[in-house]
Amino acid sequence: MAREGWAMINPKAEQITSEILSNKKVGSYNHMVFAVTDLAAHARPGNFVAIAVGGPASSMVLRRAFAIYRSSIRADGQGLLELVVAASGAGSTWLTSQKVGDTVDLIAPLGTSFGIPTEPVRSLLIGGGYGSAPLFALAETLKARGCRVDMVLGASTAAKIYAPLEGKRSVSSLTITTDDGSAGVQGRVSDVIPRIIKDNDVEIIYSCGPMAMLEAITKIADSFDVLHQCSVEESMACGIGVCMTCVLPVLQDDGTIRMTRTCIDGPVMDGSKVTWTTSREIPEGVWGK
Ligand SMILES: Cc1cc2nc3c(=O)[nH]c(=O)nc-3n(C[C@H](O)[C@H](O)[C@H](O)COP(=O)(O)OP(=O)(O)OC[C@H]3O[C@@H](n4cnc5c(N)ncnc54)[C@H](O)[C@@H]3O)c2cc1C
Ligand code: FES
Repeated sequence: MAREGWAMINPKAEQITSEILSNKKVGSYNHMVFAVTDLAAHARPGNFVAIAVGGPASSMVLRRAFAIYRSSIRADGQGLLELVVAASGAGSTWLTSQKVGDTVDLIAPLGTSFGIPTEPVRSLLIGGGYGSAPLFALAETLKARGCRVDMVLGASTAAKIYAPLEGKRSVSSLTITTDDGSAGVQGRVSDVIPRIIKDNDVEIIYSCGPMAMLEAITKIADSFDVLHQCSVEESMACGIGVCMTCVLPVLQDDGTIRMTRTCIDGPVMDGSKVTWTTSREIPEGVWGK
């Protein structure tokens, strides 16, 4: 039985051998489609998968986490999971080099998902780089609830903005920012969001992207007294709550700040409760220090 207040792995999660059905380069990313079981029906925007990389004899023992871009069940009953993968280090480069028909070992769906309001609200979705991946399915869910959905996608350069056309189709307004000015507004997402919050009377922000971006958004959200649910990206080793590598200092309901596992209690968290820190040291005031 679960200890009270002690989060558990998603009970719908399964570990399976999954066939790659599609692997296509889109800008700086690979859009990959995986055949899965009916676990696809249980995946929610914000959940992630943990994939074993490098093959059975690999020295890369740690699974890599990837946000679920889309999940669906095809007409013939086949479950599908779609991911957006940036080939950056050894694990992601191995994954993106896999061919259609190859198989991988994956565990999904994992982690918390974005909270969906029961009443229509005015929402702002902010994605940095591949952090936009879980936001498109979220946009659809919010629109189906009658919410206004504005979106900001930011990246260092145009090729790193994922799916700008899809973004345009699925939301009320789309603003793009790039550091080098190669698309949209030159600058960072934090330069444009105060105006969007004011113009559209935004009530809730959903974000996903680099930690520095999430910290900057939290400060802005707090200054406007707007709720901010962010999907954090702390390094994860096991992805299933066992190893404690993914912990962040997070304010609890009892008023203490505790090192909290972002793979189980996250990745979606209340931004205002996270003690944002760029160092990997435990900050003062954390329970047990
Ligand atoms: C919730 C979540 C969602 C993500 N979604 C996406 C996504 O949609 N698309 C995408 O491209 N990437 C995503 N990532 C990043 C992805 O998991 C990998 O970190 C990234 O692809 C780099 O991995 P690599 O093997 O290429 O790089 P490498 O440098 O070879 O390995 C990085 C890996 O090393 C391990 N690691 C590194 N530092 C530490 C540490 N201090 N403690 C423990 N382990 C460590 C982790 O397993 C990490 O994943 C996500 C990460 C998280 C946590
Ligand atoms: S990644 Fe192992 S406990 Fe979170």
